[in-house]
Amino acid sequence: MNTELRKQFPILQEQINGKPLIYFDNAATTQKPLCVIEAMDRFYFHDNANIHRSVHTLAQRATESYDQAREKTRSFINAKKVSEIIFVRGTTEAINLVAQSYGRKNFHAGDEIVISTMEHHSNIVPWQLICEQTGAKLQVVKIHENGELDLDHYEKLLNKRTKIVAITHVSNTLGTINPIKKIIAIAHAHNIPVLIDGAQAVSHMQVDVQNLDCDFYAFSAHKMYGPTGIGVLYGKENLLDSMPPYQGGGDMISKVTFAKTEYADLPQKFEAGTQNIAGAVGLAVAIDFLNSIGMDEISKHEHDLLKYLNKISLEINGLKIIGNALDKVGVVSFVLDKIHPHDVATILDTEGVAVRAGHHCTMPLMDFYGVPATTRVSFGLYNTEEEIDIFVTAINKVKKIFAR
Ligand SMILES: Cc1ncc(COP(=O)(O)O)c(C=O)c1O
Repeated sequence: MNTELRKQFPILQEQINGKPLIYFDNAATTQKPLCVIEAMDRFYFHDNANIHRSVHTLAQRATESYDQAREKTRSFINAKKVSEIIFVRGTTEAINLVAQSYGRKNFHAGDEIVISTMEHHSNIVPWQLICEQTGAKLQVVKIHENGELDLDHYEKLLNKRTKIVAITHVSNTLGTINPIKKIIAIAHAHNIPVLIDGAQAVSHMQVDVQNLDCDFYAFSAHKMYGPTGIGVLYGKENLLDSMPPYQGGGDMISKVTFAKTEYADLPQKFEAGTQNIAGAVGLAVAIDFLNSIGMDEISKHEHDLLKYLNKISLEINGLKIIGNALDKVGVVSFVLDKIHPHDVATILDTEGVAVRAGHHCTMPLMDFYGVPATTRVSFGLYNTEEEIDIFVTAINKVKKIFAR
């Protein structure tokens, strides 16, 4: 990726502790390009109004921008219809929506929900909540030591009681890209719907929900160079149509009387209250930005960085990578000798290198590997091999400090 592209991210000019920022925490959130920041500014400077309510010019402009953002999102993931795109706060809210709306209607005592060992807490806890409410129970697909799903175990878990499969497309901790097309086909052979947590996938690869044939797909704008506070739930129209509203309020109704309320059609049925309109504007521009570079180009660049780091890390004594699946995005979790990941991250920060240390909201996965935490490097499209070289020098500094 060229320097012109990096210039589009003003934050990359920051000095951290007197050193140029090296931002390797993209799985937590990505930085925002100027075009996204400016589009949101422009909206508040020139177009701000509430949507779907008033006839005045600003309201029309705001409504048009919001509706265009939905169409852009539809096209980005190749959904069949705009009515299948629900704007939510993020992946977490999307999964809670499905658990509460689809789950409350369809789950009963003794039913089973299949998730996996590598899920983010966002794809565990919402299902535990609905289990408590309905008497359904969780079944957890095992993983292999290299961080790949145990597909034999997955197949064995599916049965008449399985009511939904909810699996991550890409692991935020291991980087594993799961074979979700196969996973979906296997579930569909048993007539089981599948929700895919796409939080870590959409910024790294082309996603086509029709080709995948997933029933639900959830993602967050802030992990794909867009703003925080907005995300997407894709759902097949027939499923969304069959589901009761998740929240009640303005904009999700067609008629309200004290005796009875009739709900709006999709997608409004699931968008109660004033939405994150400026967020939708930012998301649309982030999609344009990704498309202007090309998802294949981004995938290739990040994969090259992953290969480079994998190779160079072999030269660092005591560094052990957790998660070595064959198919991975640019996410590398590691432990370094007996040094606590928080110490590693703190020293790296003094060198300007931002990484994440902790359980990455995957505590059951940490239990599986028998570690309390890891340090995680996660690449974005603006990262470079030179930054990896500086990171390696900084890691050697950490080792030296702890060798004293
Ligand atoms: C795999 C995965 N799922 C879900 C989430 C939750 O996303 P959000 O906090 O944007 O709702 C994350 C965030 O890190 C994630 O990595």
